[in-house]
Amino acid sequence: MEAKIDTTSPRFSPEALAKAEEIFKRYPPEHREAALMPILHLAQREFGGWLAPEAIEYVAGFMKLAPIRVYEVASFYTMYNLKKVGKYHIQVCTNISCWLCQSDAIVRALERRLQIKVGETTGDGRFTLVEVECLGACVNAPMLQINDDYHENLTPEKVVGLIDQLP
Ligand code: FES
Repeated sequence: MEAKIDTTSPRFSPEALAKAEEIFKRYPPEHREAALMPILHLAQREFGGWLAPEAIEYVAGFMKLAPIRVYEVASFYTMYNLKKVGKYHIQVCTNISCWLCQSDAIVRALERRLQIKVGETTGDGRFTLVEVECLGACVNAPMLQINDDYHENLTPEKVVGLIDQLP
């Protein structure tokens, strides 16, 4: 998730603009604002894995919406990052099914291994550790997500091995 552009002056690349056009085609032209969530997702990917205030402003201009409307959506959903995250964004589900299957032990193992607390990023910028609500993989609890990938049926030992083999 390296920043591809200067986040103080974000602009969609030609490839991102083409993707945005594809996204807009999914919605009636008179409801263009309905595309806000996928456009925010596109912006987050494009702008280094997070949405700086400048990115929010850019998306607002791009969508022809007031910045506050974009911020309201971006700040409501945990899938949008309003702070810079590490190369590996580790999201540990601690909701009920995962909690009943010892997700707290998973969190503790990660905190020990990475030497950070939940909500922090390692000093080298490689790992950000957060807790999230249900990610919809309860049947294979406990689980976590690293960037786009789910890892399920975890144990503290498995999770340390998982972290250690990341390039
Ligand atoms: S409670 Fe963890 S995936 Fe649903």
